[in-house]
Amino acid sequence: MLILGIESSCDETAAAVVADGRHVLSSVIHSQIDMHRDFGGVVPELAARSHVEQIEPVVTRALADAGIEPRQLDAIAVTYAPGLIGALLVGVSYAKAYADALGRPLVPVRHLDGHVAANYLSHPRLEPPFLCLIVSGGHTSIKMVTAYTRSHSIARTRDDAAGEAFDKLARALGLGYPGGPAIDRTARGGDPHAYPFTMPRFSDGSFDFSFSGLKTQALQRLNTLPDDENTLRDFCASYQQAIVDQLADRVWAAVHQESAPAVAIAGGVAANRALRERLSADGERLGIPVYLPEPRWCTDNAAMIAAAAYPYAREERWLQGPELWALDALARDPEEEAV
Ligand code: KG4
Ligand code: ZN
Repeated sequence: MLILGIESSCDETAAAVVADGRHVLSSVIHSQIDMHRDFGGVVPELAARSHVEQIEPVVTRALADAGIEPRQLDAIAVTYAPGLIGALLVGVSYAKAYADALGRPLVPVRHLDGHVAANYLSHPRLEPPFLCLIVSGGHTSIKMVTAYTRSHSIARTRDDAAGEAFDKLARALGLGYPGGPAIDRTARGGDPHAYPFTMPRFSDGSFDFSFSGLKTQALQRLNTLPDDENTLRDFCASYQQAIVDQLADRVWAAVHQESAPAVAIAGGVAANRALRERLSADGERLGIPVYLPEPRWCTDNAAMIAAAAYPYAREERWLQGPELWALDALARDPEEEAV
């Protein structure tokens, strides 16, 4: 089954052709990072305009790279929530028109389900159940994935997302946008114990995350430090360590509670070297397999959207005709709202 995936929820216009949910025939990503860098973050209106310009060439190239004609596609998949509403609208409108003109069904995909499905691209033999840590620029949560189309939330952030914590410190340090890769690079070779931070805990015993206190502590401490390269390296390493410690702490507590047989990670922050090394080492020690998607599938892409759509398409849980046209782009995740 050949699925064309389309992703436009934030600052990447992406399209990909994926066979049977696991084999990537093509993946094209047009990144807007250079455009948003001057502003230190994504400017929604500029993002939407750029998606309008890029969507057609990106989709056309994805098909050409895969070496297939549109009529060979079995279904179209598109991210419909959550994200920047103007950005989402471009992908959703394009996908609806494309699917209808081609006479193919449309599978609406939630962005975070796409991130989770990135694991199937890198590990074709991975099957639920597993526990997944989702760490991106806008979301941080732990989900128990019980089936390809079923998961429930175990923990979530009460304030900032992990990616946001990286981005905000990087911004304060003038390291540029996006901050995660910049801090990851700057921290290399630094002493992760040079500047200890306190780990947040909730009195109700939940495994929820919190990163805003860490960010405040870091910004206050920054003012008291000398401005030299070694200090910067140690400070970034320590800050990164504090984020990784909290993520790992919650993951293993959740694994214990859920008796999860395996762990996977997803989202842009899953590309972080320290996080990957830490979870792999912990998993080895505890005898629990840890699946790490290749870094190229961690950050936003459309192959993960097609991969997430596949189990729904196989069960023909898709939209056609008038119901296809009724699909709306949503800024918020409908599932998160229900909780
Ligand atoms: O999943 P993603 O591409 O977009 C969202 O859905 O948000 O995640 C982007 C986030 C940004 O906050 C970025 O700083 C972070 O992922 N990120 C990283 C790394 N690469 C990307 N954070 C830490 N280390 C990295 N290597
Ligand atoms: Zn994302």
